[in-house]
Order: sequence, then structure tokens, then C-alpha cells
Amino acid sequence: MEIYHIPVLPNETIKLLNIKEGSVVVDCTVGEGGHSALILRIIGNSGFLIGIDKDTDALKKANERLSSISKNFVLVHGNFANIKEILAEKNIKEVDAALADLGLSSLQLQFGERGFSFMNEGPLDMRMDKSKGITAYAIVNGFDESNLSDIFYFYGEERRARAIASAIVRYRKTKKIETTTELANIVGKIYGGKRGRINPATKVFQALRIAVNGELEDLKKFLSDIPDVLITSGRVGVISYHSLEDRLVKNAFRSDPRLKRINKKVIRPEADEIERNRRSRSAKLRVAEKI
Ligand SMILES: C[S@@+](CC[C@H](N)C(=O)[O-])C[C@H]1O[C@@H](n2cnc3c(N)ncnc32)[C@H](O)[C@@H]1O
Repeated sequence: MEIYHIPVLPNETIKLLNIKEGSVVVDCTVGEGGHSALILRIIGNSGFLIGIDKDTDALKKANERLSSISKNFVLVHGNFANIKEILAEKNIKEVDAALADLGLSSLQLQFGERGFSFMNEGPLDMRMDKSKGITAYAIVNGFDESNLSDIFYFYGEERRARAIASAIVRYRKTKKIETTTELANIVGKIYGGKRGRINPATKVFQALRIAVNGELEDLKKFLSDIPDVLITSGRVGVISYHSLEDRLVKNAFRSDPRLKRINKKVIRPEADEIERNRRSRSAKLRVAEKI
């Protein structure tokens, strides 16, 4: 049996995005098609789904999963920062709802070869789109100490950013840092090998992933462009997994005169969802409507 990524906050997302039979929906982070599968079942034969992802492995898996449900969808390899161009290319002027479920899919974390996980040994890659961009290897082995420190501090909110950057620069004088576990061990040593509930490398890995994929720049562009492709009273929902992303979403939904917030208080998973799906534990959903 195939194991697929379990969608986070599924019922809340569908309900607040007001997805109904006949809706035209863009899933900007289709991933393994968890949310999209639910959406396809609801929109039925009169609706249409456009699924976007940067990751071609995810798109392959989504295609298998969604094809068994309906034909009313198209998948696009692309970046949601280019949402306007992607929809225009598909001759879609406006959509009823848009979803962005940020972060990584289970598929990306599961296999060491993608380099996202400090738990699984693999090359330091971390690119969601394997066809372009700088790798984590190039950053870790090539950036100077102050740049590395800034990345860890600003994108990881890592309080030992300087010490970690300095340890990396010292280490690479003797040998390049090749793998995820090698990097995790260097960070672990800064924390004196103490293992708490959270792996000490968590923030450094988050920071590198954000830098490699330009995640915050893409999200800002998406938030500024999405109102232009929503129908009046169309809705946009974003599920974020760390405070840097959530802050951008919160501020955009609060200050954009084209949008009205549907939930003023952020929506988080209930305890039973967190128990069933640990990945959901840090999720925050915000939804806004075009006015
Ligand atoms: C958390 S997963 C989505 C899971 C999906 N909702 C599901 O239920 O199966 C996030 C996905 O977003 C993709 N992604 C992240 N940033 C992106 C961007 N700027 N443009 C397009 N896809 C992106 C990742 O490659 C990943 O597959």
C-alpha cells in the first residue's frame, strides 16, 4: 500500500476556503496531493483544480493519486511566486479559492537523498526544485562566516548562530561538509552533545532550507499577487509552520486593502490531529477573502 502525506487541518481548510461543487481551485503546493484529493472529491465534475509544485517527484505522486479520483485537474511544475503567469498560461483568469500549505512534504523528508533531514544521511542539497538554484552544500562550504551566521540567525532564529558559523568554517578548513548528518554533528557539538526534545540542528536546517529555496521572497510575492487572481469573495488560505512565515501571512492579510480576514485568530490543529499526524503540530492556518 502506498503511504501518502497526510493533509494538515483538512476539514478546517476546506470549510474556510468555502470549497463547493463547481469551484475552481488552485492548490499552490500540491505536494503529494493530500488536500487536492479532498478538493477534487468536493468540486466534482463541474469544478476544476490547478495543482502547482516546485518538486517534480511530488507532482508524479500527486498525479497518480489524483488520476484515480477525477480528470478535472491539471498539474504544473512551477513556483507559486509566479501564480499570475501560471494561471494565464492555462487560460484561467480567476479562481474561487487558493491554498498554500507551506514547508516540506513527507516525501521530501523521508528520503536522505534530498538532503532535507538531519535524521537521514544524505547529500546537502535541500532544493525543492532539483532543476535549479544553489544547494545547501554550496552555502555551507562556500559562504563566509558572517553570511552563514546571518542565515542561521535571521532564517532559523538560532541563538548560537555565530558559534555554529565559526565551527563550520573551522571544520571545512580540513574537509568539505558533505552530508546532512555531518552538519548535524557539527551543530550538535556546539550544544555540547545535549539532546533535548528538539534536535539541536533543527533551526540550522530550517534556515538553510529557507535560504536555498528563497522561501520568504516567494511567499511575499505570492501574498502580493494572489488577490489579483481571486474572484470577488474568493478566498485564500495559507498553512504555515514557523513564525517567520506566519508573520508574513498575518501582516499581508491584515494590511492588504483588497482582503478581509476570515479568521482573526489563527487556527491550529486539535490535540487528536497532532496525535495522528505529528507534522501538524506547528501548523497555523489563516484565511482571507477578496473584497
Ligand atoms: C507541505 S507540502 C504540501 C502537502 C500537500 N498539501 C498534501 O496534502 O499532500 C509543501 C509542498 O510545497 C512545495 N512548495 C514549497 N514552496 C513552493 C513554491 N514556492 N512553489 C511551488 N511549490 C512549493 C514543496 O515542494 C512541497 O511539495
